[in-house]
Amino acid sequence: MSSTDKKTPPRLERVGKAWQLIVDGKPMLLRAGEVHNSSGSSRAWMEPIWPKLKRSNLNTVLVPVSWESFEPEEGEFDDSVVDWMIEDAHANGLKLIVLWFATWKNAESHYAPLWVKQDRERFPYGVARTGTVEVISALSEEARDADARAFARLCQRIAQIDKHGTVIAIQVENEVGFQGDSRDRSDIAEAAFAGQVPQQLMDHLANNADTLRPEMRERLKANGNRKSGTWTEVFGTDDGADEIFMAWNNARYLETVAGAGYQHLDVVMFTNAAVPEVLDRRPGRYRSGGGPLAHLHDVWRAAGNELKMYAADLYMADFVSFFHPYNYAGNAAFMPEMKAELEGAANAVYAIGRGGLGGSPFGIESRTADFDNGPLAKAYGLIEEIEPLIIAHQSAGTITSAMVKPGHLTDEVVLGGYRFIVHLLQDRRTEVYRSDRGYALIMQEAPDTFLVAGFGVQIRVTTAEPSGDMVAFGGIREGRYVDGEWVPGRWLNGDELRLYRTTEGPAVSGEMRHGLRLLGGTSDIRDGAPPRPVNTDIQRVNLFRFKR
Ligand code: DGJ
Repeated sequence: MSSTDKKTPPRLERVGKAWQLIVDGKPMLLRAGEVHNSSGSSRAWMEPIWPKLKRSNLNTVLVPVSWESFEPEEGEFDDSVVDWMIEDAHANGLKLIVLWFATWKNAESHYAPLWVKQDRERFPYGVARTGTVEVISALSEEARDADARAFARLCQRIAQIDKHGTVIAIQVENEVGFQGDSRDRSDIAEAAFAGQVPQQLMDHLANNADTLRPEMRERLKANGNRKSGTWTEVFGTDDGADEIFMAWNNARYLETVAGAGYQHLDVVMFTNAAVPEVLDRRPGRYRSGGGPLAHLHDVWRAAGNELKMYAADLYMADFVSFFHPYNYAGNAAFMPEMKAELEGAANAVYAIGRGGLGGSPFGIESRTADFDNGPLAKAYGLIEEIEPLIIAHQSAGTITSAMVKPGHLTDEVVLGGYRFIVHLLQDRRTEVYRSDRGYALIMQEAPDTFLVAGFGVQIRVTTAEPSGDMVAFGGIREGRYVDGEWVPGRWLNGDELRLYRTTEGPAVSGEMRHGLRLLGGTSDIRDGAPPRPVNTDIQRVNLFRFKR
């Protein structure tokens, strides 16, 4: 390991009930954003972007470095492609996650240098049923070693010059996969597929039988829980077995590349999956072995442990359902790519409230209309304001989150014996929804005390289970954290707690017309007044129960 003046290298640690990303010796949440694919290839292009991202309260930027620009001729490296990036990110007070676009970028090999692309003997392409595809075969050892050499050299350079620990993580490749067919059918791939499933994979599956992802457990069972055999014997004869074969070969390749880099640079190495909205396994319809998709995690894990996290690119409208398979004790949840603006902001806050590391809208520099007061700036500002509290509550398991939007107007979450019924905030008089999305973080501080933060929501509270007890507000104080200190504002009560009278949800009693309202000073918004600029609220809430 090369030395830098960093005291402790960045790492992922399971602390209590959550994963923590430890950077410079302290846990941090990722208030991140990823720039467009070509932005990182020009210092001048990026120059005006860094300060805008800083103003949007980001702490981390994801920027690609391509193999073609780093090693344009074999063995000749251009360090400048990464040097300026580290310097400029640091000068703007930002951390960097480098994206290594090399053998794979979206299941294609467009970012390999020309000397690689043109040498089909040394670096064979994969073969689909329909013919050769423009993606280097995952079974090519020569390609793997060339990629690993370049990556090792890149990491060596970063270790040499990154004196402030600006690079905290590296995404190894981008959305790996095989496209056009369920598996590579080149000669080397056919030979491997005809052989036995490697012992390393079989051992991992056997040794972790109790914690396998459900899809893997079912597949093994359906094929007789064999202890050895060929790929079709162990995993079946369908495209799903082909996909496991590809996942194994992709994962082995990436583990080798990541390991070569890790020899020089101790940062968090991870890779990302292109998560499809519908897994259409018909050959050619999907990227086989497409990165570490949740149902393939066991295969990836069996291949090694240089990759510390399986990240998920989640663009779908139903963010919540797709997020959870990536968020479990075995994997730190991070989305390097997601929607921007209010949708992205709400998704990031939701993820953090469920123990995730953070979020990262893609194409952030062009998809943000207002870097200063836009929804992401506000959400990230809120997270920054209470970051140490969030982190502590994540580990203690005393935090939850809710997200609401048209089509999903109400979300119910249970914490500390109470049920929080979160609804998209309506104007009391006009019934108009005040925004397209609402999000809330709820943290339990004491048995009946909660810190609630968010935007665009109204929240009613009942007992967690129907008990006949009524829940009422014992006192609500709005406030802010300034330099980590709570600065209380108004006591909120009376009209500031009144909700629209036909608000959805169980109509328990008149008291249910009272609740929290969060829209950035929303508690004093006069009904019918024009919406204010996007903002967020923090309220400390005491509750009490009484018998009906
Ligand atoms: C997913 C890829 O990972 C990104 O690099 C980018 O190509 C987006 N899709 C689409 O813009």
